[in-house]
Amino acid sequence: MVRLVVNGEAREVEAAGTTPLLWVLRDLLGLTGTRYGCGIGVCGSCTVHIDGVPARSCVTLLSSAEGARVTTIEGLDPDGAHPLQLAWRTHNVPQCGYCQAGQIMTAAALLEENPNPTDDEIVDGMNGNLCRCGTYQRIRAAIRTAAQSAPRPGGEE
Ligand code: FES
Ligand code: FES
Repeated sequence: MVRLVVNGEAREVEAAGTTPLLWVLRDLLGLTGTRYGCGIGVCGSCTVHIDGVPARSCVTLLSSAEGARVTTIEGLDPDGAHPLQLAWRTHNVPQCGYCQAGQIMTAAALLEENPNPTDDEIVDGMNGNLCRCGTYQRIRAAIRTAAQSAPRPGGEE
Protein backbone atom coordinates (compact mmCIF):
# COMPACT_ATOMS: atom_id res chain seq x y z
CA MET A 1 0.00 0.00 0.00
CA VAL A 2 1.44 3.34 -1.03
CA ARG A 3 -0.06 6.64 0.14
CA LEU A 4 0.13 9.85 -1.80
CA VAL A 5 -1.96 12.97 -2.33
CA VAL A 6 -3.27 13.32 -5.85
CA ASN A 7 -4.95 16.56 -6.91
CA GLY A 8 -5.50 17.44 -3.28
CA GLU A 9 -7.06 14.10 -2.33
CA ALA A 10 -5.37 11.49 -0.12
CA ARG A 11 -5.11 8.23 -2.07
CA GLU A 12 -3.88 4.75 -1.20
CA VAL A 13 -2.82 2.50 -4.03
CA GLU A 14 -2.11 -1.20 -4.10
CA ALA A 15 0.83 -1.46 -6.46
CA ALA A 16 4.49 -2.38 -6.37
CA GLY A 17 6.79 0.49 -5.56
CA THR A 18 8.52 -0.11 -8.87
CA THR A 19 5.36 0.70 -10.85
CA PRO A 20 5.78 3.87 -12.91
CA LEU A 21 3.66 6.67 -11.49
CA LEU A 22 2.11 7.17 -14.94
CA TRP A 23 0.40 3.78 -14.80
CA VAL A 24 -0.80 4.38 -11.26
CA LEU A 25 -2.40 7.65 -12.36
CA ARG A 26 -3.94 6.28 -15.54
CA ASP A 27 -4.82 2.69 -14.72
CA LEU A 28 -5.42 2.70 -10.98
CA LEU A 29 -6.74 6.19 -10.40
CA GLY A 30 -8.44 6.77 -13.77
CA LEU A 31 -6.64 10.04 -14.45
CA THR A 32 -6.15 9.55 -18.16
CA GLY A 33 -5.28 13.14 -19.01
CA THR A 34 -1.61 12.33 -18.46
CA ARG A 35 -0.31 10.67 -21.61
CA TYR A 36 2.16 7.97 -22.44
CA GLY A 37 4.48 9.07 -25.23
CA CYS A 38 7.98 7.68 -25.25
CA GLY A 39 8.10 5.91 -21.90
CA ILE A 40 11.75 6.79 -21.44
CA GLY A 41 11.62 10.33 -20.12
CA VAL A 42 12.40 12.23 -23.31
CA CYS A 43 9.12 13.60 -24.73
CA GLY A 44 7.40 15.27 -21.76
CA SER A 45 3.87 14.13 -22.57
CA CYS A 46 3.57 12.43 -19.16
CA THR A 47 4.57 15.52 -17.15
CA VAL A 48 2.91 16.01 -13.77
CA HIS A 49 3.96 18.04 -10.72
CA ILE A 50 5.39 16.29 -7.68
CA ASP A 51 5.46 18.64 -4.72
CA GLY A 52 5.20 21.46 -7.25
CA VAL A 53 8.12 20.34 -9.38
CA PRO A 54 7.55 19.05 -12.93
CA ALA A 55 8.33 15.36 -13.25
CA ARG A 56 8.09 12.74 -15.97
CA SER A 57 5.70 10.23 -14.56
CA CYS A 58 6.75 7.48 -16.98
CA VAL A 59 10.15 7.23 -15.31
CA THR A 60 9.07 8.11 -11.76
CA LEU A 61 8.64 5.07 -9.58
CA LEU A 62 5.63 4.99 -7.31
CA SER A 63 7.93 4.45 -4.33
CA SER A 64 9.64 7.77 -4.99
CA ALA A 65 6.29 9.59 -4.93
CA GLU A 66 5.22 8.08 -1.61
CA GLY A 67 3.78 10.79 0.63
CA ALA A 68 4.15 13.42 -2.08
CA ARG A 69 1.61 15.84 -3.52
CA VAL A 70 1.01 14.93 -7.14
CA THR A 71 -0.85 17.27 -9.46
CA THR A 72 -2.07 16.16 -12.86
CA ILE A 73 -3.75 18.14 -15.63
CA GLU A 74 -7.11 17.27 -14.03
CA GLY A 75 -6.04 18.98 -10.82
CA LEU A 76 -4.40 22.07 -12.24
CA ASP A 77 -7.62 24.05 -11.87
CA PRO A 78 -10.98 22.67 -10.69
CA ASP A 79 -12.79 24.40 -13.53
CA GLY A 80 -10.18 24.02 -16.23
CA ALA A 81 -9.74 27.77 -15.98
CA HIS A 82 -6.05 28.10 -15.16
CA PRO A 83 -4.67 31.12 -17.08
CA LEU A 84 -2.74 28.71 -19.28
CA GLN A 85 -5.85 26.69 -20.09
CA LEU A 86 -7.71 29.87 -21.00
CA ALA A 87 -4.80 31.05 -23.14
CA TRP A 88 -4.59 27.62 -24.80
CA ARG A 89 -8.19 28.05 -25.89
CA THR A 90 -7.66 31.63 -27.02
CA HIS A 91 -4.75 30.58 -29.23
CA ASN A 92 -6.39 27.31 -30.30
CA VAL A 93 -3.10 25.60 -29.48
CA PRO A 94 -3.71 21.85 -29.84
CA GLN A 95 -3.66 20.00 -33.10
CA CYS A 96 -3.99 16.28 -32.29
CA GLY A 97 -3.78 17.19 -28.61
CA TYR A 98 -1.70 14.25 -27.51
CA CYS A 99 1.20 16.20 -26.03
CA GLN A 100 -0.81 19.09 -24.68
CA ALA A 101 -1.41 18.06 -21.08
CA GLY A 102 2.32 17.66 -20.64
CA GLN A 103 2.93 20.99 -22.36
CA ILE A 104 0.52 22.78 -20.02
CA MET A 105 1.93 21.13 -16.90
CA THR A 106 5.46 22.11 -17.87
CA ALA A 107 4.33 25.64 -18.70
CA ALA A 108 2.49 25.91 -15.36
CA ALA A 109 5.66 25.02 -13.47
CA LEU A 110 7.61 27.49 -15.59
CA LEU A 111 5.23 30.35 -14.76
CA GLU A 112 5.17 29.36 -11.11
CA GLU A 113 8.93 29.72 -11.03
CA ASN A 114 9.12 32.71 -13.35
CA PRO A 115 5.80 34.58 -13.75
CA ASN A 116 7.10 36.85 -16.50
CA PRO A 117 9.48 34.85 -18.68
CA THR A 118 11.25 36.28 -21.70
CA ASP A 119 10.80 34.57 -25.06
CA ASP A 120 14.17 32.86 -24.61
CA GLU A 121 13.19 31.66 -21.15
CA ILE A 122 9.96 30.23 -22.55
CA VAL A 123 11.90 28.40 -25.27
CA ASP A 124 14.38 27.08 -22.72
CA GLY A 125 11.71 26.09 -20.22
CA MET A 126 9.63 24.23 -22.82
CA ASN A 127 12.58 22.72 -24.64
CA GLY A 128 12.07 19.18 -23.34
CA ASN A 129 8.43 18.88 -24.38
CA LEU A 130 8.01 17.52 -27.88
CA CYS A 131 5.04 18.07 -30.17
CA ARG A 132 4.77 15.91 -33.27
CA CYS A 133 2.26 18.35 -34.72
CA GLY A 134 4.63 21.31 -34.40
CA THR A 135 2.39 23.58 -32.33
CA TYR A 136 5.40 25.27 -30.75
CA GLN A 137 4.60 28.78 -31.98
CA ARG A 138 1.09 28.67 -30.56
CA ILE A 139 2.35 27.18 -27.29
CA ARG A 140 4.76 30.08 -26.87
CA ALA A 141 2.09 32.64 -27.74
CA ALA A 142 -0.29 31.10 -25.21
CA ILE A 143 2.34 31.14 -22.48
CA ARG A 144 3.00 34.82 -23.18
CA THR A 145 -0.74 35.53 -22.96
CA ALA A 146 -1.10 33.58 -19.73
CA ALA A 147 1.88 35.36 -18.20
CA GLN A 148 0.30 38.72 -19.04
CA SER A 149 -3.13 37.76 -17.72
CA ALA A 150 -2.15 36.03 -14.47
CA PRO A 151 -2.66 38.09 -11.34
CA ARG A 152 0.61 39.43 -9.97
CA PRO A 153 1.46 38.76 -6.34
CA GLY A 154 0.51 41.89 -4.42
CA GLY A 155 -1.06 43.39 -7.58
CA GLU A 156 -4.49 44.97 -7.99
CA GLU A 157 -7.48 42.64 -8.17
S1 FES B 1 6.13 9.43 -21.90
FE1 FES B 1 7.25 10.23 -20.24
S2 FES B 1 8.72 11.55 -21.12
FE2 FES B 1 7.75 10.59 -22.81
S1 FES C 1 -0.63 18.60 -30.68
FE1 FES C 1 -0.18 16.69 -31.64
S2 FES C 1 1.63 16.02 -30.66
FE2 FES C 1 1.35 18.03 -29.93
